[in-house]
Amino acid sequence: MTKQEKIAQLKIDKDAVILAHYYAPSDVQDIADYIGDSFYLSRKAKELGNKTIVFAGVSFMGESAKLIAADKTVLMPDVSADCPMAHMVTKETVDRARAEYDDVAVVCYINSTAEIKSWSDVCVTSANAVKIVRNLPNKYILFIPDKNLASYVAQKVPEKEFIYNDGYCPVHEHMKVEEIKKLMSEHEGAPVLAHPECNSDITGLADYIGSTSGIIDYVKENEHGEYIICTEEGVRHALKKARPEAEYYFAATTPVCKDMKRNTLDNIIRVLENDGCGINGPDGNVAKEASFTLKKMLELA
Ligand code: 13P
Ligand code: SF4
Repeated sequence: MTKQEKIAQLKIDKDAVILAHYYAPSDVQDIADYIGDSFYLSRKAKELGNKTIVFAGVSFMGESAKLIAADKTVLMPDVSADCPMAHMVTKETVDRARAEYDDVAVVCYINSTAEIKSWSDVCVTSANAVKIVRNLPNKYILFIPDKNLASYVAQKVPEKEFIYNDGYCPVHEHMKVEEIKKLMSEHEGAPVLAHPECNSDITGLADYIGSTSGIIDYVKENEHGEYIICTEEGVRHALKKARPEAEYYFAATTPVCKDMKRNTLDNIIRVLENDGCGINGPDGNVAKEASFTLKKMLELA
């Protein structure tokens, strides 16, 4: 029996569904029932009827799925797959903004721990942040933890005053602008598509800025022969599936999220065979308040 066949059998035995982010390894994307960006996957976690969700992503994704669908068992193929940005804000930053501004909304990117979500008023993903922030009644927005997504949303929603926090995704933040400029000179006319977690040196060069799904949709809807892609290299797999005839160029120092790559077929088999090690999620008030911010996102988006 191949690993793929074993997983297919275990899914039936355990009434399990596999969700995978576009940054997961290609062979994991291939066995997933649903592949998508953070927003799509959180909606799926809510809608699906299966008893068990295997989340091939990072811990904030599994934790969010558990907060949205508390009755389900949520399994992470490797519980140590974490997102460094998800921890990059302190409670003092939130308390200071709330003390200084009466009319402030605390908006947290889904790439955050449940505790950070519990301090916030609403959660967003890169796919819905502009829409949600634009429709908030508040004048001031403390956007946590990501400074780069915050700057992108601030440009799109100039009528609000933004308060920034110093968090960032190391994979996108350290992408080298000279490498992207070199690709632009080598592939003249190729659209530059960037994730809003990139810093403004990179997004300033982009023809399109959007979530991983947004980048894939752009390629489907705007037929060019070549594209320069400024995000984690895992999206190449979905891009190749969507338009195999096109070429996709990434920064020479390949942007790889090592935490996303902890999701392997062997780990998926192990967690499905060994049920009972599902993530518990937070308790009490943290769970209540964090799930409120996530559910508010699902309503407003
Ligand atoms: P999206 O899934 O919203 O495109 O965000 C990318 C990401 O960093 C997930 O960790
Ligand atoms: Fe976190 Fe960046 Fe990895 Fe996404 S790509 S999980 S933001 S470290």
